[in-house]
Amino acid sequence: MHFGNFLSLFIVNVVLSGTLVASASLDRRGYNPDLALPLYSSGRWVFNSKGETVTYVGANWPGAADVMIPEGLQYQSVSHIAGMFAEAGLNSVRLTYAIELVDQIYENHGKDVSIKTALVEALGSENGTQVYHEILKHNPSFHKDITRLEVYDAIAEELYGRGIYLHLDNHISKGMWCCSTDGNGWFNDTYFDIDNWLRGWKYMASHGKKWKALASVGLRNELRAAVSEYALPINFEVWTEYMTKAAEVVHHANSDVLIFFSGLNYDTNLHDIVYGNALSDSTNATFDIREYDFYHKAVFELHTYSSPTDCESYWSGLYNAGFASLNESDTDVANRLPVVLSEWGHSEEDSSLAYESVYSTCLHEKAVEYKFGWMLWSMIGGYYVRSGSQDNEDLWGLLAKNETVFRGVESADAIITMAKDTLASDVDEGVSASRKHIKSWDNYKA
Ligand SMILES: *[C@@H]1O[C@H](CO)[C@@H](O)[C@H](O)[C@H]1NC(C)=O
Ligand SMILES: *[C@@H]1O[C@H](CO)[C@@H](O)[C@H](O)[C@H]1NC(C)=O
Ligand SMILES: *[C@@H]1O[C@H](CO)[C@@H](O)[C@H](O)[C@H]1NC(C)=O
Ligand SMILES: *[C@@H]1O[C@H](CO)[C@@H](O)[C@H](O)[C@H]1NC(C)=O
Ligand SMILES: *[C@@H]1O[C@H](CO)[C@@H](O)[C@H](O)[C@H]1NC(C)=O
Repeated sequence: MHFGNFLSLFIVNVVLSGTLVASASLDRRGYNPDLALPLYSSGRWVFNSKGETVTYVGANWPGAADVMIPEGLQYQSVSHIAGMFAEAGLNSVRLTYAIELVDQIYENHGKDVSIKTALVEALGSENGTQVYHEILKHNPSFHKDITRLEVYDAIAEELYGRGIYLHLDNHISKGMWCCSTDGNGWFNDTYFDIDNWLRGWKYMASHGKKWKALASVGLRNELRAAVSEYALPINFEVWTEYMTKAAEVVHHANSDVLIFFSGLNYDTNLHDIVYGNALSDSTNATFDIREYDFYHKAVFELHTYSSPTDCESYWSGLYNAGFASLNESDTDVANRLPVVLSEWGHSEEDSSLAYESVYSTCLHEKAVEYKFGWMLWSMIGGYYVRSGSQDNEDLWGLLAKNETVFRGVESADAIITMAKDTLASDVDEGVSASRKHIKSWDNYKA
């Protein structure tokens, strides 16, 4: 840490937002408040603006369900929850949002909806009003008409003060608990309007310019089967057309951020992209990341939820799905980019013993062996509402339902150790060549 940076950041923070507490904790936590943004990708590595490698170790902070407000704030402050990321030794937050949030801003003549309105809408007037008062009680810095996006702003500011990267993920189009046949699965599915998605990204990438912690974005969480007959065919040809279009929109609006590309089938498959195979049965065209302006901003992301019994055979599936990109000696790789495991997780209750499962210990071991970034699902102990059930507890949350303490001692320790070990991993294959490849950091600004 540079004391000069710390001091000037401290002053700026006090003047701009008065978040004295957040800044004061930086030193004690040993965080470097200088995030050295923007980040770049070259080869399999992410670099900061000083040319140092950066490996994400983080957790998800969901915000894309019905109310479209980041979760947990009826129990604890933004500052406390952000502090728990730091407490766990995590350097990044994957904060999720729904495109519907932006759609509603457009419908509302450019004005975002207040959290009070959003809560009443999603939870009913009695519960919505009660949760609204709890949020204000725990977050005294929130003014009474605070909007949803202003909550995101407050989180971004808090993360910046703590030296934590913000990764903004578009989780879904219609705000709700996701998946299977929910109409958000694939391009032009019932709720997945492509133009609204691109408009949403243009809006959020521009808005994110004022978030000093914003390091990267994820274009779309877990592409999957569609329910609408109008949905486009599911293949990498369609994927390439629209994912690169969205990446161009983001890059044009905000040329600083890294752009994460997720795969097919719930983000478990990037095989044909990484290996440069034909994009579909009806074309010989292949994906080539070097053709795009955002080449040095691109990162792959994958998810894995599984219960393997053998680490090596489990890993060979993940390797084949796209982690091969991390092996500089694997010459079958055609598009080499960093790969971040942006979701994985399991029960965080100690009694589940999930922390000592093959799944968990294997990912820990491989994160160290390959030095890849990862983000746990999730940090937060519950949801305002999930699939119609209000005040819903999530046993997969690293935090207890009251968002105050870690849910399990052993479980949290496993994550803390994994973060430490990942960051301490001394893998540096290809670093100097990749670093040289980006000749001048500033030339990559559009
Ligand atoms: C209010 O929330 C509680 C859970 O906290 C739930 O049991 C109840 O059904 C909710 N009421 C309404 C009207 O949705
Ligand atoms: C998308 O779906 C709508 C119906 O919701 C349809 O009219 C339109 O043609 C579809 N777009 C494409 C590109 O197929
Ligand atoms: C793919 O390439 C092969 C060999 O050049 C050619 O015969 C075939 O017509 C091509 N297929 C398509 C869909 O372009
Ligand atoms: C990397 O790829 C090479 C060539 O395919 C292979 O021999 C080696 O085992 C791989 N290493 C790792 C760590 O995956
Ligand atoms: C929060 O929840 C945990 C786990 O249930 C409990 O041990 C702890 O006392 C609670 N803390 C507060 C301040 O309520």
